[in-house]
Amino acid sequence: LLDHPRTDSTLEAAQSVSPGADAERPADVSAWVAELAELMQPADIHWCDGSTRERHELLQLLVSNGTIEQLNPELRPYSFLARSHEADVARLESRTFICSAEQIDAGPTNNWADPVRMRAEVTDLLRGSMRGRTMYVMPFSMGPIGSPMAKLGVQVTDSPYVVVSTGTMTRMGTAALDAIAAGAEWVPAIHSVGAPLAPGEKDAAWPCNDTKYIVHFPETREIFSYGSAYGGNAILAKKAFALRIASVQARDEGWLAEHMLIIKVTAPTGRAYHLAAAFPSACGKTNLAMLSPSIPGWTVETIGDDIAWLRIGADGRLRAINPEAGFFGVAPGTSATTNPTAMDTLWGNTVFTNVAKTEDGDVWWEGMTSAPPARLIDWRGNAWTPESGVPAAHPNSRFTVSARQCPSIASTWEDPEGVVIDAIIFGGRRATNVPLVVEARDWDHGVFLGATIASEQTAAAEGTVGELRRDPFAMLPFCGYNMGDYFAHWLDFGRRLRRSARVPRVFQVNWFRKGADGSFLWPGFGENARVLQWMVERLDGTACAEDSPLGSIPTADGLNLDGLDLSEDRVRELFAQDKGALLAEADDIEGFFATFGDRLPAELDRQLDLLRRRLAD
Ligand code: GDP
Ligand code: PGA
Ligand code: MN
Ligand code: MN
Repeated sequence: LLDHPRTDSTLEAAQSVSPGADAERPADVSAWVAELAELMQPADIHWCDGSTRERHELLQLLVSNGTIEQLNPELRPYSFLARSHEADVARLESRTFICSAEQIDAGPTNNWADPVRMRAEVTDLLRGSMRGRTMYVMPFSMGPIGSPMAKLGVQVTDSPYVVVSTGTMTRMGTAALDAIAAGAEWVPAIHSVGAPLAPGEKDAAWPCNDTKYIVHFPETREIFSYGSAYGGNAILAKKAFALRIASVQARDEGWLAEHMLIIKVTAPTGRAYHLAAAFPSACGKTNLAMLSPSIPGWTVETIGDDIAWLRIGADGRLRAINPEAGFFGVAPGTSATTNPTAMDTLWGNTVFTNVAKTEDGDVWWEGMTSAPPARLIDWRGNAWTPESGVPAAHPNSRFTVSARQCPSIASTWEDPEGVVIDAIIFGGRRATNVPLVVEARDWDHGVFLGATIASEQTAAAEGTVGELRRDPFAMLPFCGYNMGDYFAHWLDFGRRLRRSARVPRVFQVNWFRKGADGSFLWPGFGENARVLQWMVERLDGTACAEDSPLGSIPTADGLNLDGLDLSEDRVRELFAQDKGALLAEADDIEGFFATFGDRLPAELDRQLDLLRRRLAD
């Protein structure tokens, strides 16, 4: 593997070195791969089987290429550190395109490009783009293989880093290919880092291209990604398929593909509840998914931390699966106090990207310990001290780890039927205006809360950190069609739920409200269990709530604050609703809604009107 030929060897020669027998492969996948090989001219083709041995060989290859280095095995067994190119550190929303036939079907929130022209443009870029590299063919399943909710895909890539990552994040390999051979539909995804190698040319540690594209053809369910190896742009099973393409499939097939974590909450009574929560990237999903409750008698178990697929089950109830198999989590801020479960998950078998390295060969990031080590190697590979004045880990540095390794993983996390969802939560990162928790009046009001979520930008995508923007349902970067139609789909889904079974309650939360001194008013993390307690007690009808313009909020003694050192003033600030500021926000929502023109459901205009009336009272 280490001396694989860096030549323009012919396709015939390439295929002769690939493992497995052609005859066992689905003919349509083989034909597609052959066509792509002719276009992209790889030196080799490798059909991934998803085995541990294959993963091991790829990790060794990545070490010898200089893409990753192994961490100290005594401190972090079988774990690796990747340092990306400095300009390939986050999702690129400005380079993400939804190429529906009609621009109106991409809607005002997506970059649209004409599908015929875009196909020609990316085909040109892909011509010869894998020269000197191996093309890896990765069959994968999103959702447990055989689940009625699972969907299949095949991604080709010339990045072994992407293969290793996809192997963690999805069910990748032979079993998925077998399911395709048995007749399952599959979504094709093409990825190239866009860095062909001339014979004898030395490879970059992190090959990529200044020109980047993440392109989706929603009508034909196809994905193209070029120039980046960053997870969110390159692990196409995740954001590109399980959200952007799947949201379109979900619209057409009557289900929901959402940017949501899923948890199982068990009360001291022994009764269990399942909650799904949508927050924008780097706004607390992984932390809530792994929450270790500060309040006695409560447990939270993890089912998923980023994506949920929800449908109405045969029993008429709302059921959800986590289509992924791993976590691609934000490192900074993760510590033994904020998220001990994540720290335990990361004990080994983890690939870290763009974190800092300690002198003894372990990892470090801002917030992992209260005081930073005296000396580090920063994410760029430079010597670092606390006086350096720059973060040691990139703010969007990540860990990639198997969900199986998570000590709080629920025994039901791979249930092919999914778990029954009792409540849905929307949230964002808001320094002002939005209370700690409110409960929607009903499903339609909940859809209004989801549709009007705004959040301060984070380092998870390019852009100005801290800038407030509307991020409806935390799906702004991930909805593969017109979001006006998406809102209508949610409203319609509620009507279908009402006909068949109990409709889940909807809540909105904000862990990030700040006081006048600029500090967070709410301690967050494990203390968020107190908010979960209020929610499940609302489901049971035991928690007290009072009406407010934004929705129902806990009464003065409704929220369990036992043992929490939080002044009454701060609690009041957490729930304060400044009518002037909220009316200004309503004006902003009106402007946002107007961008959808006649694709905006009338019900949302009605909800805005109701909000204004309640604020005017
Ligand atoms: P995700 O990208 O939505 O999964 O968000 P994460 O759970 O990875 O969290 C993103 C960042 O927000 C991390 O730095 C966390 O430490 C921080 N964070 C998560 N939950 C809370 C919380 O309840 N309070 C505060 N203050 N920060 C949080
Ligand atoms: P996150 O996942 O939501 O956990 O940050 C990655 C992303 O959304 O880009
Ligand atoms: Mn995400
Ligand atoms: Mn996350």
